Amino acid sequence: MKLNAAYWSDRYRNRDTGWDIGYISTPLKAYFDQLADTSLRILLPGGGNSYEAEYLHTRGFTQVFLLDYAQEALDNFQARVPGFPEAHLIKEDFFHHRGTYDRIIEQTFFCALAPSLRSAYAKKCHDLLARGGKLAGLLFDDPLNADRPPFGGTREEYMEYFRPYFDIQQMEKAYNSIPPRAGRELFIKIEKK
Ligand SMILES: C[S@@+](CC[C@H](N)C(=O)[O-])C[C@H]1O[C@@H](n2cnc3c(N)ncnc32)[C@H](O)[C@@H]1O
Repeated sequence: MKLNAAYWSDRYRNRDTGWDIGYISTPLKAYFDQLADTSLRILLPGGGNSYEAEYLHTRGFTQVFLLDYAQEALDNFQARVPGFPEAHLIKEDFFHHRGTYDRIIEQTFFCALAPSLRSAYAKKCHDLLARGGKLAGLLFDDPLNADRPPFGGTREEYMEYFRPYFDIQQMEKAYNSIPPRAGRELFIKIEKK
């Protein structure tokens, strides 16, 4: 199985999108609700249908960027949120993206990547963040699958990838997960070193 844009596009076309919960996840809503500065530059990589980008946009955040290499995801989003700036919809491989952000938001993107890319993900997030920038969101705390996404892992494993590039402010079991993920995810808030 080759995890590339065609693989994910097929899954959108076949409506094989079990990761898509259809609404903003409760931990991310709580996180966004305490962000006061609506000018923060926020990147949602592998954002898919991104109810999170929609939420931020409707709350007045003006510098929200949704990146995904599956065109279907961006088309779905544009049809659902027509007022979202087109220039903030980025169809690109995350690892090729250039930019500078204050926040990067993680939700079921890391677990969609081949585990061999995890260290590169940590480094890329570091490179895309401004000084003082943070990576925030959710990582599965569950072994999940070994041969296909979602790929799981543990806090200890994740620490190895992120510690070289980030100060770990929070990497704890989420208390407010959506019911199907309760007890199976970590909320992370880590700051660029
Ligand atoms: C499991 S889905 C998660 C979507 C969204 N984060 C959510 O929670 O609903 C993974 C997404 O990452 C995208 N993706 C995977 N690898 C990517 C890459 N290297 N660059 C950009 N997007 C990627 C896929 O197209 C897909 O939309």
